[in-house]
Amino acid sequence: MRIGVLTSGGDCPGLNAVIRSIVHRGVVDHGDEIIGFEDGWRGLLDGAYRELTIDSVSGILAQGGTILGSTRVQPQSLRDGVPRAKELCESLGLDGVIPIGGEGTLKAARLLSDAGLPIVGVPKTIDNDIASTDVTFGFDTAVSVATEALDRLKTTAESHQRIMVVEVMGRHTGWIALNSGMAAGAHAIVVPERPFDISKLTEVVQERFDRGKKFAIVVVAEGAKPEPDTMPWEEGTIDMYGHERFTGVATQLSRELEHRTGKEARPVILGHVQRGGTPTAYDRVLATRFGWHAVEAVHKGAFGHITALHGTDISLVPLAEAVSELKTVPADRYAEAETVI
Ligand code: F6P
Repeated sequence: MRIGVLTSGGDCPGLNAVIRSIVHRGVVDHGDEIIGFEDGWRGLLDGAYRELTIDSVSGILAQGGTILGSTRVQPQSLRDGVPRAKELCESLGLDGVIPIGGEGTLKAARLLSDAGLPIVGVPKTIDNDIASTDVTFGFDTAVSVATEALDRLKTTAESHQRIMVVEVMGRHTGWIALNSGMAAGAHAIVVPERPFDISKLTEVVQERFDRGKKFAIVVVAEGAKPEPDTMPWEEGTIDMYGHERFTGVATQLSRELEHRTGKEARPVILGHVQRGGTPTAYDRVLATRFGWHAVEAVHKGAFGHITALHGTDISLVPLAEAVSELKTVPADRYAEAETVI
C-alpha cells in the first residue's frame, strides 16, 4: 500500500515516534511505501513530499519536534483546498492518509474524510483536550517539564519570600495546570474551565504568609480568566488562524496579587519550553502504539477514524465523535486538586 503521513498544528513531543512507528510497521511488516508530506496540510496541498524510508527515520524516536515540519494551515480555509488535497492524493495513488494533529487538524481531517479521502487520524496535543482518547502523547512530557520548573521555582521563591505565578499552556483546558500543580504541590491552581475568584485566590496566598510560610506558588493555565469585573483585565487578541493570543495571565495575575497582598510577586511564563525536547518514555510508547494502530486501520480500510487510548487499550473512534467536543477538567478532578492547596 501507499500511505501518506503529515504532522499539523502546534508540534508536540512524540510526533517523531509516531512517524517512525508508521514507517516501521508499514515498510518492514507490510511492505508499504510511506510518503511524508512537509509542513502539515501545506505539503498535501502544494505537493511537497518525500518518501520515508527506514533509514530516514533512524534515530528519531527520542527527538522532539517533527522531521516533517508543521504549520497551522487548514485545507478548508484555502480556496479549493479540499478538492486540491483530494486530487493530489488520487494522483499519488494513496491508499491511506494519516494526519497527526490536534483539534483543528482533526476537524480538517473530518472534512477531507467526508469528501472521500481515506483518512485515519492520530490525535496529538500537549493540552490533552481531545475528548475521545483518555490521553494524548506530549501531555506527559509537558507535565513533567512544568513540574520540574515548579519544583525549581519553589527554592528561589522561598529565598525571596515571593509569590510565583507560573503560566502553563492550555488555551481551553487546564489539564497541564492541574497535573503539574498537583505533582509539585502548588498552593493554587487556576484553570480556564472556571473563571477565578481573585478575592479567594488572594486569601489563599495571604493565609500562607500569615501562617509563617515564606512563599506561594500559583499555577495558571494561559486561557484562564477572572470572574467578570473583579480586577483590571486585558483581553487577548485573535491571530491569523482565529486563535486567541493571550496577553499574559501570569503577568496580570501577579500584578494584582502583589497589589492585594503587599508581597512581591513574579510572573513566569513557561511557554513553548513545554513543547520542546525529548518525549518521556510514556509519550514514546503511546505515540509508537498510535502509529502502529493507524497503519493497521489503513490496512483494514477503517477510514474516518482516529486512534484512541481507552484504559490500556488502543481503539478506533469515528472522526465525527473525536471532534465533537473538548475534554475539559471536570469539577471533581478540580476538587481533588483544591485539597492540595
Ligand atoms: O495546542 C497546543 C498549544 O500548545 C496551546 O496550549 C497553545 O496555546 C498553543 O499551542 C500555542 O501555539 P503556537 O505554537 O502557535 O504559539
